[in-house]
Amino acid sequence: MKTSAGFWLLAVLLVAATSFSQTVEKYFKVGGTLQLSPQPVSAEITSIVWKCDKNLLAEWVKDLIELTYYSKFKGRTNLNTTTGVLEIRNMTAEDTGLYSVEINNQVQSWVYQTVAMEAVPQPVVSVRLLVCSSASKSCTLSCDGNVSAAGPVEYFWKIGDGEWKQSGTNMEIINNEETQHVTNFTCRMKNPVSERDSKPLPNPLFQIPSFPSSSSPTTVSDDTESEAPVTLGVVIGSLATVVAFCL
Ligand SMILES: *[C@@H]1O[C@H](CO)[C@@H](O)[C@H](O)[C@H]1NC(C)=O
Ligand SMILES: *[C@@H]1O[C@H](CO)[C@@H](O)[C@H](O)[C@H]1NC(C)=O
Ligand SMILES: *[C@@H]1O[C@H](CO)[C@@H](O)[C@H](O)[C@H]1NC(C)=O
Ligand SMILES: *[C@@H]1O[C@H](CO)[C@@H](O)[C@H](O)[C@H]1NC(C)=O
Repeated sequence: MKTSAGFWLLAVLLVAATSFSQTVEKYFKVGGTLQLSPQPVSAEITSIVWKCDKNLLAEWVKDLIELTYYSKFKGRTNLNTTTGVLEIRNMTAEDTGLYSVEINNQVQSWVYQTVAMEAVPQPVVSVRLLVCSSASKSCTLSCDGNVSAAGPVEYFWKIGDGEWKQSGTNMEIINNEETQHVTNFTCRMKNPVSERDSKPLPNPLFQIPSFPSSSSPTTVSDDTESEAPVTLGVVIGSLATVVAFCL
């Protein structure tokens, strides 16, 4: 038992020693700028070496080596020699890699694994089921767009002028009095490097609120005729929204 415990302790120590460097994932937008910061150092910075996949990227040693950029990073990189912060413009998918830094001749334990991704597309809200009208019990809206190159995407929905709420790609709307008074629905796509909103979709379940919205319900017509004005109202309402939309 004792030897076993000792063995495991040794194993744990060995693993801890070899995995001393910690990898941090860093997303960048294709065509955008990547900014990497070293861990804070207390002393004045007198030398900096940034590497990408073990190849020299940028180098500077106070009073000894002028600020130098290497290979594909020339002409689009900036190293701030006071802070050690590295900035690379016009990032492409080929710049994906493991970035590490040495400050004052000390290899820092943090390394950055960079991951390329495209900005999210402008989403479009569409109605999932073919049949969705004021007569439907519920409808499903979906937030559409080609996100195949956009990495992990989060979805948010906004009801009318309400707050953004995180949710899935689809949103079910139940046909009740509350929903009927909502004018439109908007969705948002967000990934680590971008976010975009759809145009508001006019509510397919919209019903014109009855005018005297006070408590006394005014009966405009008898039961047999009440269907027609509602339908007409919905049509006019949708038209009004569409017209407002186009202006
Ligand atoms: C380096 O960064 C510091 C702090 O952000 C800033 O004050 C300074 O102007 C930067 N130097 C250069 C050359 O950009
Ligand atoms: C880098 O991107 C800028 C716009 O951000 C563009 O003007 C420039 O031509 C690009 N440079 C290269 C080398 O692609
Ligand atoms: C989605 O976008 C990727 C590239 O970003 C493209 O290769 C693919 O064909 C697109 N898919 C559709 C269905 O448009
Ligand atoms: C969407 O609904 C909100 C709240 O009713 C309204 O303020 C906004 O103008 C509507 N937008 C469009 C484009 O219809």
